[in-house]
Amino acid sequence: MTSASVPLSGPRFQTEPAELYRELRRDHGAVVPVSLDGDIPAWLVLGYRELHQVTGDPVLFSRDPDLWNQWPGIPDDWPMLPVIGRKQSSILYTVGERHRVRAAMISDALEAVDPFELRGHAEKFADELIDAVSGKGEADLIGDYAALLPVRVLATLYGFTDEQGPGLVTALNDMLNRTADALAGKQHLAASMGQLLADRKVTPGNDVVSRMLATALALEAEGSGSGFTDEEIVQDLVVMFAAGHQPTADWMGNSLRLMLTDDRFAASLFGGRNSVAEAMNEVLWEATPSQNLVGRWASRDTQLGGRRIRTGDLLILGLQGANSDPQVRTDGSALTGGNSAHFSFGHGAHRCPFPAQEIAEIIARTGIEVVLDRLPDIDLAVPAESLPWRPSPWLRSLTELPVHFAPTPPLEATSA
Ligand code: HEM
Repeated sequence: MTSASVPLSGPRFQTEPAELYRELRRDHGAVVPVSLDGDIPAWLVLGYRELHQVTGDPVLFSRDPDLWNQWPGIPDDWPMLPVIGRKQSSILYTVGERHRVRAAMISDALEAVDPFELRGHAEKFADELIDAVSGKGEADLIGDYAALLPVRVLATLYGFTDEQGPGLVTALNDMLNRTADALAGKQHLAASMGQLLADRKVTPGNDVVSRMLATALALEAEGSGSGFTDEEIVQDLVVMFAAGHQPTADWMGNSLRLMLTDDRFAASLFGGRNSVAEAMNEVLWEATPSQNLVGRWASRDTQLGGRRIRTGDLLILGLQGANSDPQVRTDGSALTGGNSAHFSFGHGAHRCPFPAQEIAEIIARTGIEVVLDRLPDIDLAVPAESLPWRPSPWLRSLTELPVHFAPTPPLEATSA
């Protein structure tokens, strides 16, 4: 086990992550000393057991970035700030009892979503996106499809109108892809959420925003000081939008790639449906959308995986590393067939809320099924090895998935 730190960057996170995590584990053990941009130290937790320990103890391993012992050396223009970020007032930076109340407010609001209605929304938007390309015989299933679908569905669940959808899609993708319009995108999202919240105060509806508002008002009425401000709710709505859209789009994209490149799934491209769920589960084990995630901060000196962790050290959650830990993958098997003991949705108090996981699953599965139903003879338009992965040690997703297929008329034309 060496103590020299490894830069958390470079092409191997895209080209051969499985080999990279294997080597890191061999050379450094379950908790790897890494360096971030500017030689800032952190720990990458790759061990399944160690990640369980970290995510299962939110007091010792806190979600509060104010604890970070590196802040004094972090310049205002540090390129990693968008990933690590100073403390904000969203759920992501809330801890303890207040976090519990806040997570419950979000969970309850999402839990009330009717899965049949949700599937209907997802089908409708998926069909619209396929209609736009089906006559052409070719498409990019990321840019033309996966990157546009979950956000439209989430916008509807929030209570936005169909007319507002396209503007929200552009704003969110600008923000996530850090384009020149990223700041404007973020402001558009916050302003739209703020306006929706104000509208729902006057006219509540059967939607996520109205339900969160109702909980917040009830908490305020209790007078226990545990209510949430409009600004806090708006921040959570933006977080849920981004945290909900991107990994769902990537889960869909990575599963479509697997089905288009792996012979085991060939049959399902032409009619069989059973293996869609299997491909999606395999992706969560093998190519999970958030391969590494920030993070937790140690609230006191401790030991982890044989390493001495100091108060205020940053621990990065190595979700993909833990998923492929040989201690749980002794036979190297793909562990498909319903085993969902992976870390792809996190674990413990800050894990992805269960109803959010279900919403993601319905959107992604519907999106994949609509592609398979609507685009006959679909095939990759480029060699599988040349598919471009996003250049990031954090995300695992394609930037393009070019396919061709037999051109078909749009649905409306078919049913007319
Ligand atoms: C494939 C889809 C998704 C994946 C892989 C995913 C993954 C995750 C992970 C790993 C975390 C834990 C973060 C941590 O421990 O620090 C998380 C948290 C969260 N996710 Fe998801 N997520 C997905 C979809 C969604 C959706 C659709 C929503 C909402 C509509 C959502 C809302 C949230 C929220 C609010 C949190 C923060 C929970 C907290 O801090 O208590 N996620 N997600």
